[in-house]
Amino acid sequence: MITRIRKPLLLILAATSFFATSYKSIAQSSNVITVKANEIKAEIQPTMWGIFFEDINFGADGGLYSELVKNRSFEFFTPLMGWKVLNRQRDSAKIIFVNVGSKSPYNTRYAHVTVDDNPARKLVGLSNEGYRGMGVKKDVQYNFSVFARNGGEGNVSLQIELVSAKGATIGTATLGGFTDKWEKHSVSFTSSATDERAQLNVMFKGKGKVDVDMISLFPQDTWKNRQNGLRSDLVQKLADMKPGFLRFPGGCIVEGRELETRFQWKKTVGPVENRTPVVNRWNTEFKHRLTTDYFQTFGLGFFEYFQLAEDIGAEPLPILNCGMACQFNSGEVAPLDQLDAYIKDAVDLIEFANGPVDSAWGKVRAEMGHPAPFNLKILGIGNEQWDEQYIERYKEFVKVLKAKYPEIKLVSAAGPFPDGAAFNYAWKELKALNAEIIDEHYYANPAWFLKNAKRYDNYDRKGPKVFAGEYAAQSVAIASPDNQNNWRCALAEAAFMTGLERNADVVHLASYAPLFAHVEGWQWTPDLIWFDNLRSYGTPNYYVQKMYGTNKGTSVVPITMNKEVMAGTDSLYASACIDKTTNELILKLVNTSGKSQSKSVVVDGVKRLDAVGKMTVLQSNDLNKVNSLDEPMAISPKDSQVAVKGKKLNLSLAPYSFNVVRIKM
Ligand code: AHR
Repeated sequence: MITRIRKPLLLILAATSFFATSYKSIAQSSNVITVKANEIKAEIQPTMWGIFFEDINFGADGGLYSELVKNRSFEFFTPLMGWKVLNRQRDSAKIIFVNVGSKSPYNTRYAHVTVDDNPARKLVGLSNEGYRGMGVKKDVQYNFSVFARNGGEGNVSLQIELVSAKGATIGTATLGGFTDKWEKHSVSFTSSATDERAQLNVMFKGKGKVDVDMISLFPQDTWKNRQNGLRSDLVQKLADMKPGFLRFPGGCIVEGRELETRFQWKKTVGPVENRTPVVNRWNTEFKHRLTTDYFQTFGLGFFEYFQLAEDIGAEPLPILNCGMACQFNSGEVAPLDQLDAYIKDAVDLIEFANGPVDSAWGKVRAEMGHPAPFNLKILGIGNEQWDEQYIERYKEFVKVLKAKYPEIKLVSAAGPFPDGAAFNYAWKELKALNAEIIDEHYYANPAWFLKNAKRYDNYDRKGPKVFAGEYAAQSVAIASPDNQNNWRCALAEAAFMTGLERNADVVHLASYAPLFAHVEGWQWTPDLIWFDNLRSYGTPNYYVQKMYGTNKGTSVVPITMNKEVMAGTDSLYASACIDKTTNELILKLVNTSGKSQSKSVVVDGVKRLDAVGKMTVLQSNDLNKVNSLDEPMAISPKDSQVAVKGKKLNLSLAPYSFNVVRIKM
């Protein structure tokens, strides 16, 4: 069980709701906001606003990864997890699971099925329940595949049936002609209905024996129609954010509860049938949200992550295990003199991503269909590690990686908390080592986010850069199952992010976490995007991220009220930037008070501004409001025009609102 609420966090959580107090504190100190559009304070990195991906909450298996069959290769704890035997009859038919051990080290089990053709009996079969059912759509093609061979005698074929939750057959196909050799066989069919909880039946016809493995069903309409592909609606939501980077594969999943179950990228590339499933560390992490059937099949592996990053225009940012298991769990470490294998994984990953096609790992990438390099530039060493044991291991990685690939920037860890002894120790040590980018995590209540809007104002400009690698406002308490993705949290994040942007010379990357959650399969809340088997929606927090990502700008310029940065006075938070490529001024203003506020904005340092600007507003009067599958756009951005008179504009900032203004210069 992860015990996350420690002392520094308790202090954070003790702070009471800021919204009530901030409302009272409006002193109307000034009605004029000044922007100096020609005073560049910092360049904004293209990576600034990105995405954190982890296979938590059915993020990959059961989520982004489109495979509909759960436990397709019978490798979960028990071979029948997710499966049911249909019409089991004594004597006449049998399904046994053979474990070939080291003969097929990646995927050791298969089903050996014996059937007769007695017409008086119903066909024996295997039925798969999917991930809380299978989401299928009317008129969409489904691609079924199986590895099969004749099991030694007779002739058995497969009758494939897609069955709705009510028991109607909504798609069928047959497959046969199995030889004595293991071969992949495929067939497609179209679903005649939409169903959120369909099941797949594989019925055995004929008389004799057959061996089957890797029973798989994918929709044709995956992202870019790729085989072994990803769910289009979910990828589209990521692409719409215009993310600067994609961090993968986590998160604590990188570490594993023990070293044995850590994430090992080499086991996630190459033919899908050779990727050995590993239990997902989130399966029983929280007793209040047990998910005992949660495994990682690695169908979504490192090749697919790199490809996804490329598809959505994001820098790939892999995080690798540094010889440490999760310190909230076993905390196992690899001895310092046995780190070679871990470091080699990092060295080889760079070759996999960037190496020529005739290098050992570059060849693997090319054979998987991507001869061009993925252009990896940043790599993380360890996830959320802390204390001496991390620094000792990090140093070993740096020695080797910097000697071989000096151009790759390395991300190091500052632990799980945004302050306190472990955090301070990490910063002191990493600074002394000239670390390039330090990964900070903060899960705290909304008040913390407002209080910390100036967090980076006094960071050393010459020190390591910051990756705000995981953050999210928690409405109740960290990782509480009652946390909500409500407007209060999203608005606090929007306000805090003005401080990240204002300090873009220090903060080079930032990402909300976690990213995805299945409405029935989740373990951790809040999360940016929620989905069921057919639908998905962005939370208010998602729209905050999206508004930052799509209004990034290239350079920070000052925005002040009474000559002070806007980080809480009159409950207002603001940042400003220009986009040199489009020649636009971009203002972000957050009103955390429950009162509308009228402000004039005077823009200095420009020859002229267009007479009309665009204003995008995310707003609700109800701080507890959330989006949902049924009301996905309850809180969503609304566009309007704003008049500009010369170099001045009058803004009315609605209560509890996040506003983005874009004006051509
Ligand atoms: O985002 C959920 C978890 O929170 C991540 O896996 C971990 O890095 C952090 O503790």
